[in-house]
Parts: sequence; structure tokens; C-alpha cells
Amino acid sequence: MANPQPPAPGGALQLQALFPLAVGIVQLPLDPLDVAVQMQAIRELQGLAVSNPDPGCAWTGDLHGVGQLHRHPSFAPLISSLAGHAGAYLEGLGFGRSRVALHIQRCWPVVSELGQVVGRHHHPNAHLSAVVYLNGDGSGRSGCLRFFPPRQANELVPGLAVGHGGPILADAPATAQWNAPWFDLAPRAGLLVLFPASVDHAVLENEDPNDSRFSISLDLVLTAPKGEGGATAEYLAPHPGEWQEVTG
Ligand SMILES: [Fe+2]
Repeated sequence: MANPQPPAPGGALQLQALFPLAVGIVQLPLDPLDVAVQMQAIRELQGLAVSNPDPGCAWTGDLHGVGQLHRHPSFAPLISSLAGHAGAYLEGLGFGRSRVALHIQRCWPVVSELGQVVGRHHHPNAHLSAVVYLNGDGSGRSGCLRFFPPRQANELVPGLAVGHGGPILADAPATAQWNAPWFDLAPRAGLLVLFPASVDHAVLENEDPNDSRFSISLDLVLTAPKGEGGATAEYLAPHPGEWQEVTG
């Protein structure tokens, strides 16, 4: 990144925003009939389970053997429609799209009932995370997706930005811009969200007594394109089609 324009002599201090975190959002055109079928399918996959198993934790399919939803006939068209957006996300970050292969590693439903949450976590097994919401009205009452900054360099003293009456003013606009301890994104039916899998996130409590919160999560992985063997950057794994399982 080049130096910014030099400020005018005698002018006020300027703050330059460096190193932004990229969260991709796009609104998908969901068919209400498809969504009804998908919700019913998720309920059937859930069976009698309604939590993880702690009653305060939302039911997540990955912990209940439901981790390949992209192969399910009721979901495959929706999930395959996400591919172009994931590619656009990569291109938006500066990736040469033909220089990497993108794989869906895992895809699972999440259902959060009244009072349930998903605790803070990230996805170290993946590179890119995605979630698409089957319902939600944008109010956040069914439970926002909360992102935590990987590091808060601007709080200067580690831990100050979480509040508790510290010197960083909780309600100041400057705090929201430079020292927010988190960012909350409200679910909306059809909203697709893409973000680095290394970023900590959580789902806040579902406070809607009239509706369960339905979403589909995805773990995606970047590898070298097929056929390139070891001729790519050492940090990028070869295409899984070139891997060999070691048995015995
Ligand atoms: Fe997650």
C-alpha cells in the first residue's frame, strides 16, 4: 500500500484505516417453497435432537453426523449456487481465481431454538467459511452472527475495548470505527455471508419465541489446481485428487 496523500500543513490529525477484514455478503433469491422443503428436511435430519447436547447450545449438524448437506438433493442446487459468490470473494481479495481450487469440505445445518446460542469459535480445519440463512427478518432477534476482530491493535492496552467502564468510550462513534470489540450481523432469509475461517465468531441468543433460527454453514478449503502437483507455493496444499491415503 502506498503512502497516503500528505496532510495539509496545519490540518487536523488524520487516521488511516489499514488491514481491513473482508466479510462478503450477498442476498440470494430464495424460493419460499424450496425453503419450506429444506426446513422440513433439516427437521427430519435432526430427529429428536434439539441441542448440542447442552440445552443452551443450538443444534449443529456437524456434531450429529449431518456434515455433507451439499450432497443432499434438497440442498445441492442452493449450495452449488454459492460457488460463484465464493469465487467472487476470492477475486475480491486479490486471488487469481485460476490459481487456486476451492472445495466444499463440510456443509451442515444449524437450528437455534429460543434461548440457544453458538459459542465463540473458529474453523481451523478450513480456509473460508460461509453461512446462508433460510430465515430471519434482519432485526437480529433470532440471534446475530457476532464477529470478533483477530487482533485489536487500536485499543493500545490489550483488553480495554471490551468495556467494563474503561477509558475507551463505549458510545463514541470513534470507538465503533476503531475499537469495536465485535461486529454483529443480523440474519435475513437468503443472506449469504463469507469470511476467513480463522476469524472467531459466535451466534447470539435466539430471542424470538415464535421462530426457530435456520442456517446452513460451510467450510471451504483452498488447494492448488488439479494437475499442478507441487509446482505451486509451498503454503498451498496440492489438489486432494493427488493425495494418497496411508493405510495400515
Ligand atoms: Fe462457525
